[in-house]
Amino acid sequence: MHRWIKLQRQSLLVNIFRICDFTVGAISLDQKKKLFMRRANLDDLPALPHLPKDYELRVATVHDAKAIAEILKTAYSPFWPAFRARYILLDAEDVKRTFIVTFNNKPIATASARLVPKLYPGSGYVHWVAVHPDHQGKRLGYVVSLAVLHFFKEIGCRDAVLETEQSRLPAINLYTKLGFLPEYVYPSQKELWANVLAKA
Ligand SMILES: CC(C)(COP(=O)(O)OP(=O)(O)OC[C@H]1O[C@@H](n2cnc3c(N)ncnc32)[C@H](O)[C@@H]1OP(=O)(O)O)[C@@H](O)C(=O)NCCC(=O)NCCS
Repeated sequence: MHRWIKLQRQSLLVNIFRICDFTVGAISLDQKKKLFMRRANLDDLPALPHLPKDYELRVATVHDAKAIAEILKTAYSPFWPAFRARYILLDAEDVKRTFIVTFNNKPIATASARLVPKLYPGSGYVHWVAVHPDHQGKRLGYVVSLAVLHFFKEIGCRDAVLETEQSRLPAINLYTKLGFLPEYVYPSQKELWANVLAKA
């Protein structure tokens, strides 16, 4: 019962934040505009590259909630108080691990490993990827997302999936570099993807 209440509360908060994000235009609630990508297997993952000096990759803890929320605020919407990072990532039942890259011990990049077996059985779902703008372009997005993929492999996932948006071209390039390919959720997305890839 306690678990059920916790899940209901979490789902209510997720929806409230979604509506907040939608009102500032940070996300689209139109499912047909959401882009879906899949990495067909996790067999041939590249090794994690070395990070530049003073950067470090590690698993996040609840103590990182505020810093993670600050990163996500720069990338998505102002509605990222620390408790959202706890509810949606660090304390969430469906998020198995959140990775961060720190610069001089301060978190500046993040990506999470989520499992949604009812929707994507056997797959890992790459969740809430972001690099603080001051640190972009240093392969940190690549490293932190690749860490998620290695984790999926470690826990026995068959493949990896993610959702993104057409406006997020740097992210689409990053995911393509990591071996993700577009998958059409609706037939109309074939054209949408063709336009996106022409710009990427
Ligand atoms: C997407 C994001 C995480 C990339 O992080 P990053 O650390 O700057 O990216 P990296 O340096 O690891 O780059 C890896 C690859 O991503 C692509 N990429 C990154 N930035 C790019 C840009 N501005 N334009 C085009 N491609 C880009 C490139 O393919 C790059 O490989 P290359 O450097 O060999 O060309 C970052 O731009 C970000 O936080 N964006 C806002 C949040 C977001 O859109 N998250 C994803 C939502 S689905």
